[in-house]
Amino acid sequence: MGRSHRPRQPAQPAPQPLRGGAANGASDRDASAALGAGPSTADPVGRFGSWDWDLTTDTMQWSDRTCQIFGIQPLTPVTREQMLELVHPQDRAGVAEVLATARTTRRGFSHEYRALRGDGTVLVIELNGEVVLDAGQRAPRLLGTASDITDRRRAETERRNLATVLDSSDDAITTCSLDGVFLTWNRGAEKLYGYTAEEAIGQPLDLIIPLGERAKDHLNWERLINDEPVRSLETVRLTKDGRTVVVAVTRSLIIDATRGVIGVASVGRDITEHKRAQALLAAAHADAVAASELKSRFLANMSHEIRTPMNGVIGISELLLDTDLSADQRSYAEQIARSGEDMMRIINDILDISKIEAGQLELEVRDFNLHETIEHACALAGLEARAKGLALDVQIAADVPRRAQGDGQRLCQVILNLVSNAVKFTQQGAVKVRASRAGHARIRIEIADTGIGIEPHALHRMFEPFTQADASTTRRYGGTGLGLAIARDLVDLMGGRIGAESQPGQGSTFWFELEMAAADNGEPASQTPARANASAGRQGAAAPLELVPELGRSVAPVFGEQASAG
Ligand SMILES: Nc1ncnc2c1ncn2[C@@H]1O[C@H](COP(=O)(O)OP(=O)(O)O)[C@@H](O)[C@H]1O
Ligand SMILES: [Mg+2]
Repeated sequence: MGRSHRPRQPAQPAPQPLRGGAANGASDRDASAALGAGPSTADPVGRFGSWDWDLTTDTMQWSDRTCQIFGIQPLTPVTREQMLELVHPQDRAGVAEVLATARTTRRGFSHEYRALRGDGTVLVIELNGEVVLDAGQRAPRLLGTASDITDRRRAETERRNLATVLDSSDDAITTCSLDGVFLTWNRGAEKLYGYTAEEAIGQPLDLIIPLGERAKDHLNWERLINDEPVRSLETVRLTKDGRTVVVAVTRSLIIDATRGVIGVASVGRDITEHKRAQALLAAAHADAVAASELKSRFLANMSHEIRTPMNGVIGISELLLDTDLSADQRSYAEQIARSGEDMMRIINDILDISKIEAGQLELEVRDFNLHETIEHACALAGLEARAKGLALDVQIAADVPRRAQGDGQRLCQVILNLVSNAVKFTQQGAVKVRASRAGHARIRIEIADTGIGIEPHALHRMFEPFTQADASTTRRYGGTGLGLAIARDLVDLMGGRIGAESQPGQGSTFWFELEMAAADNGEPASQTPARANASAGRQGAAAPLELVPELGRSVAPVFGEQASAG
């Protein structure tokens, strides 16, 4: 720090305000730390300032350095009132008392208090005063120092807080010398390993490392010390009473001021319970998966089994309708046939959803006519639309490829599910189906209706199995709440996205997008089911079937049997 000397300012005739004057740049003129020297011209570098208190006149001389510490302009003399004004209000009475006592008892003192600097910052000041006797052994002066010990106190507080944190931590925090001897041991370590700090400090690291773990542990230690990157270690530790605990250990190097490595700090966390819970959870999860698979397999088998007699019921009731029947008998037979078909639809939906959930549904990959598929699905739903007097408008953009590769029947099922919902939940107006291209090989199909709509917050739930907007839906519209779940799962299986927007009372728009490779133009559709893995899935295709994932061996569901209009 550079020192400048300049003449002391002349004494002010009247007390001047002490606050607010910035003292930076004020000369560190004297501020001798040496007691008895008084405010001299000596000017030590540091946090000391000096003062000289004439007890006879009760006035003080402050050195420039003292003034600088307090953040005021050099000022002489300083009255006791002026000095007290620079004391933190909460400490003011204490300082006044110390000064008063020193004055009456004429004894030295040492006092620590908080000061308020001119710029508003709070300092911790240590004030020391010594009595200087005159020739008659009376005490005419008190000489003293004021030192700014704010940084020291702050560091001490930080250290104390850190020590509290270390000690109150449940983690075992320890430090070791480079040769692996414990140097510190916090309360968390006492709790976890069972040794007190006295027992552990000075002992080698192996105190808590089971024999079988030592090789791995030493390797981790060596790596760390050689500055190789190490990850935290999940390991086993030995407690004083011979138990083993699973511990996650994180180690870091302790570096000294000269950047030398002087030791290793470790934080160990007991994860025994965590590990046990994890194992239980994994077991429970495996059980749940197994149970769910069992359920899905059961449902799939059941629905499959029920389909055979249901086909009988439907077939026979149709035969029955071809015979001579009375009007009553005909009406009964028609009801049997209709109920049979309804039931068949529900069973097909349950079969689909359980197969999908059991991971057993496989899509086939073959060339199919995309335009016809869309039109066919709409035609199936069109009967119902016509019966309700609804317009069903289908538009396929010109750039939507005619022939594509994929599972046309499942695609038809998705469209049919969405279009029949649109028709079912619309009383008047129109249902519009739009197919367009949404990217290189991406097609987007949108089904917009002017129907009852869905509350926005309920919209995403509708894609869950067995979910309908509310309890009255089944009563009023029928259905099982499986159609959207199946559509979502199928679109997922095809690697696409599905979504909806809706406004209650206004209508809904359901949409989905798929990567769909165009098949060779003009070529007849390949009839060979193909596996759509990287190599085999591309046969006959102009573009690869990019986003259709994990297609397995194909099964060929008969759409007429499978498709759900529910
Ligand atoms: N276009 C639509 N307009 C209004 N609500 C719809 C529409 N599509 C689906 N929903 C709501 O979503 C529910 C689930 O549909 P879905 O899974 O097809 O089951 P389901 O048709 O058997 O009721 C329906 O019950 C209905 O509440
Ligand atoms: Mg439906």
